[in-house]
Amino acid sequence: MAKTVFITTAIDYTNSAPHIGHAYEKILADVIARYHRLKGESVFFLTGVDQHGQKVQQSAEREGVPPEQFVAGVTEQFIALWDKLDVRYDAWAATTDPLHKKCVQGMLQRLFDEGKIYKDKQVGFYSVRQEQFLTDKDRNEAGEFGPEWGEVEQREEENYYFKLAEHKQWLLDFIDARSKANNPFVVPDFRVAELRNAVEKIGDDSQSGSDRQSGSDLCISRPKSRLSWGIELPFDSDYVNYVWFDALTNYISFIGYDPTRSTISDQSAAFRDKWPALHVIGKDIMVPAHGIYWPIMLHALGFPDDQLPTLLVHGWWNISGAKMSKSLGNVVDPDLLIEKYGAEALRYYLMSDIGMGKDADFSEERLVERYNSELANSLGNLLNRTLSMASKYAASQLWTTAIRLNEGSKQIPASESIHVMTSPGQPVSLPSDSKELGLRDLIENLPKIYVAAMDSFLVSLGLVLPEEISAHCNRLVEKTAPWKLAKDPGQIDRLHAIVYHLAESLRIIAILISAVLPNAAHGIFDQLNWKMELSGKEERFRLEDAKWGGLPDRHVVGKPVPLFPRIER
Ligand code: ME8
Ligand code: MG
Repeated sequence: MAKTVFITTAIDYTNSAPHIGHAYEKILADVIARYHRLKGESVFFLTGVDQHGQKVQQSAEREGVPPEQFVAGVTEQFIALWDKLDVRYDAWAATTDPLHKKCVQGMLQRLFDEGKIYKDKQVGFYSVRQEQFLTDKDRNEAGEFGPEWGEVEQREEENYYFKLAEHKQWLLDFIDARSKANNPFVVPDFRVAELRNAVEKIGDDSQSGSDRQSGSDLCISRPKSRLSWGIELPFDSDYVNYVWFDALTNYISFIGYDPTRSTISDQSAAFRDKWPALHVIGKDIMVPAHGIYWPIMLHALGFPDDQLPTLLVHGWWNISGAKMSKSLGNVVDPDLLIEKYGAEALRYYLMSDIGMGKDADFSEERLVERYNSELANSLGNLLNRTLSMASKYAASQLWTTAIRLNEGSKQIPASESIHVMTSPGQPVSLPSDSKELGLRDLIENLPKIYVAAMDSFLVSLGLVLPEEISAHCNRLVEKTAPWKLAKDPGQIDRLHAIVYHLAESLRIIAILISAVLPNAAHGIFDQLNWKMELSGKEERFRLEDAKWGGLPDRHVVGKPVPLFPRIER
């Protein structure tokens, strides 16, 4: 059996409510998952919540509730949001799950038994308010620990360390080998250099962060006296596990990894079918967690190089160029946007208005503008006028004719011409001699380009393609003026051909938008009265059906119902 495409996202901290950045990441992963299902591949999409750690413990204390109760409340908000947003995941990773704890403890025990974890003493500056050790990085320009740290004292503490630094050269070689094999560890590959630079600095004292001691190994324990909300170390009950070590492990614990078996071939078939994963994460958690700790953890556990994951690193949504933050009071609440505009409007905006790997500014005006122009006016209007014409001129029947319409074309300016890289060095683009693409030519070319775009995770580009088809169709209507043809009995075949071309284009558009706009895609299929027996089921969308001629002669379409009602402000 073919391997499953295994997609995960970062698990969200349950120290506060979900925001628009969380929504973006989850929708992005959902779109990638849906795209693979559209291709007929089997997919396993894992997501969840990161429930342990200091921040969570502090938030719970502030609210005066036990951490269990606090995380249960926040977790509920995340689950409800993914429901509303139609994020269709296959398994839920909540790090308080006993199955996960057992796996983390098994992993810690094995690493400890194999001498990869050791105990050591740390002396340093400690912020009582933030309950953490500080490093030189935490000093302000004046070289002092600022007032945000509260009282800072010298402290001595014993902790457990994971041997990280000794794998530095291995990690550099691994990153280089993956790039050389055109299978970069980090996508988009402009981030590879950023990661590589960070790896180069392992062992450099001036760079050691609060999680590392001076030798640049990773401190993986916290004494229970200062943090109790975590997974207990199996070999020392005075300590809990550092939250990142716990959280990263979710990617294997929830698909059945058995930490007592050190070779991959001894793992269950269920595990091996899914692994390795594509991890969808934000740019802030590439270094050091996903780009350094995680591959080294897996390497130390005995994962061979060809069994390491790929990181898809996305950018951030900002507010007027500034970071979203609770203290600035500019956090955008996805629930409010869904209430106002609907889930599909939000999915569409978040997928179309940001380039893969780049940052973007969130703007409610842009959301409304893009929805109204691209969805309501272009695609929604096309569906409406097509079904109205079918009803008016052909009793809602589609008549296939031999006519191949090429009107409605436009010159595609160079700046708009579509180039995507399937793999480095292999650009795919619209045929260069097709400056005057007709509708059929466009449709016959687009699925191929759609695949190239989506295989490279260029979701916003994948959305340009169906938009291009609907724009062509609308131009076709304006140019051919079917209402005039209807008055001339000699033009009746042409009129039928136009209506068929429009309906068939809509069927293909529905397939191409289904990963981003599943409900709208169902709506188009329903109104086209197409494959009704599969109504509501995702299986009704298959990429292989995105080719001309699917709707049969004399097919009867439905009556138009507004698909994207205009947003009035
Ligand atoms: O980092 N725009 O959790 P988290 C886009 N629990 N993405 C954003 C964003 C923004 N403004 N703000 C945050 C954690 N994100 C850990 C992960 S994984 C084993 C543990 C993204 O709730 C962020 O980059 O702080 C991350 O990928 C995800 O949201 C969760 O962030
Ligand atoms: Mg964060």
